[in-house]
Amino acid sequence: MHKIHFATSNAHKLKEARNILDTVGYEVEHIDCDYPELQADDLETISAYGAQWCARKLDKPVMVDDSGIFIEALNGFPGPYSRYVEDHLGNRNVLKLMEGVANRKAVFMTVVGYCEPGCEPHTFTGEVEGNIAIEERGMNGFGYDPIFLYNDRTFGELQDHEKNRISHRGNAMRKFAGWL
Ligand code: IMP
Repeated sequence: MHKIHFATSNAHKLKEARNILDTVGYEVEHIDCDYPELQADDLETISAYGAQWCARKLDKPVMVDDSGIFIEALNGFPGPYSRYVEDHLGNRNVLKLMEGVANRKAVFMTVVGYCEPGCEPHTFTGEVEGNIAIEERGMNGFGYDPIFLYNDRTFGELQDHEKNRISHRGNAMRKFAGWL
């Protein structure tokens, strides 16, 4: 089985990546490497930079995953700042920001970055459209999953294989595997 080196410090992303890429014939080897997160307004730039940084440092082909949730009524916020917002505000405060807001549309996005040593990075974007729930629901997944509604269930209420089939990460990683 062909191996993909995945640089991440997020155990949830690693588990999802293993399941997603296994279904298309790739084995994921974990590299516990946290790259400096560039301050940029788009995930592509952050992901491309991270992949190139890791490929240089580790001297091997590396995949990274940079993700974010874009809430339409908040003009795309938190987007590339999703990690900071989750760490400092959390889901409960995001729901407070959305109190009384009728437009609850949101997009979850993953940009997979891939780079081989000495080469330019490539990016692969995956998205899923949904809505911000009224309250947190479900014990599965991680991060924003309990507040991201897909049809009538939150990602936190989906089983892993159900989320992976339709998720931003699933779409981005299958696109990458197809290219590879
Ligand atoms: P990053 O890609 O690690 O920068 O993630 C940005 C933020 O989005 C972090 O707070 C993650 O916990 C969260 N996040 C990333 N992917 C997912 C997901 O699949 N579900 C829910 N939250 C996620």
